[in-house]
Amino acid sequence: MFGWFKKTPPPQREYEPVEQNVAGYGDVTMLAEYFQVITGVSFEAQHSILHSKLVTFCKQHAIWSFETCLARAKEEPLLRQALIDYLTTNETYFFREVYQIEALVALVKENAEKVLILCAPCATGEEPYSIAIALLEAGVAASGFHIVGIDINTEAIAKAHQALYSEVKLKNITPEVKARYFTREASKQALRPDLKACITLKTANIFDPEFKNIGRFDYIFSRNMLIYFDKPTKEKAKKILESMRKDPAIPVFFGHADLF
Ligand SMILES: C[S@@+](CC[C@H](N)C(=O)[O-])C[C@H]1O[C@@H](n2cnc3c(N)ncnc32)[C@H](O)[C@@H]1O
Repeated sequence: MFGWFKKTPPPQREYEPVEQNVAGYGDVTMLAEYFQVITGVSFEAQHSILHSKLVTFCKQHAIWSFETCLARAKEEPLLRQALIDYLTTNETYFFREVYQIEALVALVKENAEKVLILCAPCATGEEPYSIAIALLEAGVAASGFHIVGIDINTEAIAKAHQALYSEVKLKNITPEVKARYFTREASKQALRPDLKACITLKTANIFDPEFKNIGRFDYIFSRNMLIYFDKPTKEKAKKILESMRKDPAIPVFFGHADLF
């Protein structure tokens, strides 16, 4: 009797629904430590922000515990890169801390030979393109310099290749300079294609032992990356970048907030 009230058991699932498995999203410490080892980026004082970001990341990848996420990130290069792309902060804009770009232009103008400049990190490209624009505006020929821009974030490098920017990123550029180097595409500004030839872009991690093989440089910009590192990692990064200078007398251009 009343058989039609009887509940049929739910079908077997391959995995537990997330809501029933929140215990899998517990302590972030192991993942935070692993992330710091591979990238240098420290979330020391921000474990609650990291926790909520990681929950979103794991759900997007159908991973139901931080333990599994860690094990898979160690094993799977694609997942590891997705984690890096998701957790690194790529905020940048054209002509940021412009006084350093002006100082660089003055140095480059003193050089009779072609100069090689490293931007590590370059994020979505605004910094190396600003340097190129500043040099051209100062009368340095395109044949007189080349810039290498690297970043650990593959999505940022893809955007740098695309070189399509929202107006807010160009807030420090005068209308005249904008008109010389950009063309309007819908609501965005596209960088002139020939300017892209002044820059080589590459995904790279400065802590990768292979990184130094990209060469030695006359000038190195490394701004607003060390702010994400703890003190010993800042020192390590500083040593790596300083060892890549052609002339040890020329300081690396760090951002004003980068060092101690
Ligand atoms: C805030 S952006 C700075 C961009 C630009 N230099 C500026 O000052 O506007 C910091 C960049 O550092 C990159 N980054 C973090 N750790 C890195 C590493 N180990 N190697 C290379 N790039 C890294 C991030 O992906 C991010 O794009």
